[in-house]
Amino acid sequence: MTKKKRLLVTSALPYANGDIHIGHLVEYIQTDIFVRYQKLRGRDTLYLCASDTHGTPIEIKAGQLGVSPEELVARYNREHLADFHRFGVGFDLFYTTHSPETRHHAVAIYEGLRRAGLIYTKEVDLVYCEHDQRFLPDRYVRGSCPRCDAADQFGDNCEVCGATYDPTDLVLPHCSICGNEPVRRSSKHYFFQLSACKEQIARWIHDNGHVHATTANWLQGAFLDGDLRDWDISRDAPYFGFEVPGETDKFFYVWLDAPVGYIGTTQKYCDDHGMDADDYWKRSDDTEVVHVIGKDIAYFHCLFWPAMLAHSGYRTPDRVQVHGFLTVDGQKMSKRTGTAVTASIFAEHLDPQYLRYYYASKLGPTNADLDLNLEDFVNRVNADLVNKTANLASRAHAFVTRKLDGRLGDVDPQAEPVFAEATSRFEAIGEAYASFEFARALRGITEVAELGNKYFQDRAPFHVIRDDPEEARSICTAALGFVKVLAILLKPVVPHMAASMERSLGLSDLAWEDLSFDLGGGELGDFERLVDRVKLKAVKRMIEAQRAAHEATTPSNGSQSPAADAPWTPKPVAERITIDDFAKLDLRVALVEEASPVEGADKLVRLLLDLGDHKRTVFAGIKAHYAPEDLQGKKVIAAVNLAPRKMRFGVSEGMVLAASSPSGVFLLGVNDRALPGSKVS
Ligand code: 2FM
Ligand code: ZN
Repeated sequence: MTKKKRLLVTSALPYANGDIHIGHLVEYIQTDIFVRYQKLRGRDTLYLCASDTHGTPIEIKAGQLGVSPEELVARYNREHLADFHRFGVGFDLFYTTHSPETRHHAVAIYEGLRRAGLIYTKEVDLVYCEHDQRFLPDRYVRGSCPRCDAADQFGDNCEVCGATYDPTDLVLPHCSICGNEPVRRSSKHYFFQLSACKEQIARWIHDNGHVHATTANWLQGAFLDGDLRDWDISRDAPYFGFEVPGETDKFFYVWLDAPVGYIGTTQKYCDDHGMDADDYWKRSDDTEVVHVIGKDIAYFHCLFWPAMLAHSGYRTPDRVQVHGFLTVDGQKMSKRTGTAVTASIFAEHLDPQYLRYYYASKLGPTNADLDLNLEDFVNRVNADLVNKTANLASRAHAFVTRKLDGRLGDVDPQAEPVFAEATSRFEAIGEAYASFEFARALRGITEVAELGNKYFQDRAPFHVIRDDPEEARSICTAALGFVKVLAILLKPVVPHMAASMERSLGLSDLAWEDLSFDLGGGELGDFERLVDRVKLKAVKRMIEAQRAAHEATTPSNGSQSPAADAPWTPKPVAERITIDDFAKLDLRVALVEEASPVEGADKLVRLLLDLGDHKRTVFAGIKAHYAPEDLQGKKVIAAVNLAPRKMRFGVSEGMVLAASSPSGVFLLGVNDRALPGSKVS
């Protein structure tokens, strides 16, 4: 048998400016299960991760909080590590991209690409806020869509009509930080000539199982079938990041140095342990590199990253494992309704092992989305983990300690065929773990648990003991053999519970190679409570606590608070019009009869307006500011003689009026006695 290569596994590096929530945990739990399985098999495996520390959002947030970016990222680094620890995510090192090691490798990669002739500079036209004295990235400039005129859109694409554009194309743009209108300004930027790497990237994507076939096909269609645009890898000061060599006010764009953080973290680990990081990143003959990421960042990892590495003297990864997004009860997670549960609130209310088990029971190798259905979550954890595994362990253990002096005996010969039946599943369970097919692994394990329970029930030591206590002892010994096997099989998924099971059996540090029903003739340990039943009530309390935590930090209209001290000036008065111009506009009082979210649109609410003599549908970009259920029954002002606008989600037959400023977006209201359809003039 050829020796398995050493393995380096990473999860995406979390941005150090927000909480870890159950959506992030899909990835860290998934990677941790894979790593624990590899270690259980005795494979030399490193699991590395780090805080992703650079970029405009972190720099701005630190400024708003009055701390340095270094302090902010150090704070989040500590909090994230504590969260990961609670969920049993066992990194060998959780480091930071703001490190000398990552700087060193980012510069080395950049220099390598430059030597390969793949870096050039170009003047680019950008939006600049003279008040904040900074260029505004896409997410920091908002305005009306140049195509459909929808208000309050980001600088890169319109959520209403789907148009993509440059921030300089926005109509009536304003800076999201201070609200002022930005100006255009040009700047020299550095570009990586990705277009020249297209063939190499396509080869890499389709070769050697680097990515799952479904992901490879998606990447091909979404990116490689069209033109690959060169990548702008620099940003202007002020910026929290690494300076581009030879420049003082230009920095590497965060996405250039973020993946380099994988290498920087390896360097740190290897330096601390007398190892050579080049064994992992320069030579591929006896190491394997696996990245686990979400599909939103697949193009960085599967297009840019292999291209950067291949042309700068580094090795490319062996596999990028791409997972889908989390939904809760079939909906996108929402802070407002409390389903975007943070790791710490989850752990305050429920045992984190439940989440590990549930995610594992739903995870496959493709990038399909994963739904956390709260009732199914309760049922599955109770039905499998509690009723099958924990129950068998506690019944068999309690029986031996209470009725049979706590001593084990010879194994019941009648258990042998059941052992054989269970053993025949081990290999497939291992293969499923190794290929990220955790749902399949858990189905196999559940079958093993069912065999053990059925054996225990059929052989009924509680009856047998009356005539033959020694036979009852043999039956319990066989049943506890099942508990040992289940502890090993479940170790990657629920390591704490598995460790308690081991200790209860008087065993420790079991590995995959210990997979047998033989308990080794030692003494039983004290029984440790494994897991409690999950109660739907506790799940509901957790959602409620999350909702309340969000409300406590958000103004009552749901808008984000602006920078505390940012001065704001209203927009200048527009060009003068005549009364006739104004009279052309037909404004009416409208009663919101129905309000609902629009699937696939983050900002839109669909409103059914009652206008007295008729009803019509209007889409409004106010979801970030109002909960649809709060809008029902409200009276608003609508412009009703605008040409209907065809959107991706349907036709909008008018517009509701709202005032917008950095403090939020506020719908115009009217005295409740005004009747729907009344003209406003
Ligand atoms: O999308 C994100 O959350 C990024 N912080 C992930 C970076 S992964 C790697 F490239 F560093
Ligand atoms: Zn500004």
